[in-house]
Amino acid sequence: MPHSSAPSAPATSTAPLAPLADGARPDPTPFALGHPTHLARLPARVGSAELLKVPAPAVGASAGEAEWAGGAGGAGGARVARLLNLGNALAYGGEMGMPEWVMLDCGLLPTSFMGFCRRAADLSTRTRAALNERLARLETTLSPSRLSAEELLGVPRGPLRDEEWVPVAEFCALPTLTPGQVMGYSLFSLEQGLGVRAKALGLALHASLGARAQLGVAQYSNTAALRAHLRFGPLELVDPLTPLHTRAGETFIYRLAIPPEGALIDMAAGSRLRYTSHDPSPYAAPEEGRWVRADDVGAWGALRAHVAAGARAALAGARATPLGDAEVLVVTDR
Ligand SMILES: CC(C)(COP(=O)(O)OP(=O)(O)OC[C@H]1O[C@@H](n2cnc3c(N)ncnc32)[C@H](O)[C@@H]1OP(=O)(O)O)[C@@H](O)C(=O)NCCC(=O)NCCS
Repeated sequence: MPHSSAPSAPATSTAPLAPLADGARPDPTPFALGHPTHLARLPARVGSAELLKVPAPAVGASAGEAEWAGGAGGAGGARVARLLNLGNALAYGGEMGMPEWVMLDCGLLPTSFMGFCRRAADLSTRTRAALNERLARLETTLSPSRLSAEELLGVPRGPLRDEEWVPVAEFCALPTLTPGQVMGYSLFSLEQGLGVRAKALGLALHASLGARAQLGVAQYSNTAALRAHLRFGPLELVDPLTPLHTRAGETFIYRLAIPPEGALIDMAAGSRLRYTSHDPSPYAAPEEGRWVRADDVGAWGALRAHVAAGARAALAGARATPLGDAEVLVVTDR
């Protein structure tokens, strides 16, 4: 299942776990987690920040990376991957976290997870407790053979230690068969504002490798996600009502033109909030387009026919009404 979807959370329930701003905490560190071959293709810095490269799997990592990753076994990368996976499940909610084989086959091996991490000591109390609880629960379910393998490889277990790195926001995109087009399949944030920054970081890194467009899958009702994606530009509707998803009926496929690298680097740093110039107020009267309820399947079916007939359509806004209904602003060219 594409993971770029919020499986069960209604529009208004994607509240961040951490408190809003915490001026006492350092800015989070940009990271990339993936196969060492791919990490080697990424720049050493993003803007003024050093990119922390975490190899997983670590076999084949350069000497420095292997050392960082926890010695010859490179077990540190496996621990960071586990923490990323648990954070992802925490943000998405329910039991719909990314299966570990998906993380390996579709993320770590073909591409890299890109985002922001913190030392465990700098996490909010709530996030640290939630991750520790999930770590403890997971560790009781590991099979005997997995436990043996982890012991052999020296993968750390147990509660978070102050000095270890913990991903707090992540974006993952895969190359596609179309040159210059990547498929964004995972985005989460445990702290308000870091989801947009993680996506900006990931798009900037992919842009540095030649990407110009990003495909994605999302739900009309996931207002927080849509408003995060819309910071980068309108979402061109490739398929307004796809049957190809566990949550068909509310899921659409979009294409985003990747903004210029410089703007993305500023957004990743948090010094720029959005690339697009559209009015950030969801209640401003739209200059063009119309607001459609997220659950209006009939409207999405009609729009699909419209797109199939050659029209172009895009999402340009998303909002939650005072009654809690999700709506999106649809713009068409005819
Ligand atoms: C989607 C997600 C990554 C966004 O993270 P973020 O960038 O840190 O999000 P923010 O809290 O800064 O919110 C982004 C925008 O959504 C709005 N928003 C946030 N929560 C909202 C909610 N519950 N209802 C309505 N709008 C909301 C914010 O006000 C902000 O809008 P703005 O552009 O006017 O400032 C995060 O909500 C998340 O992890 N969700 C669960 C996983 C998920 O759904 N992933 C996306 C799959 S497509």
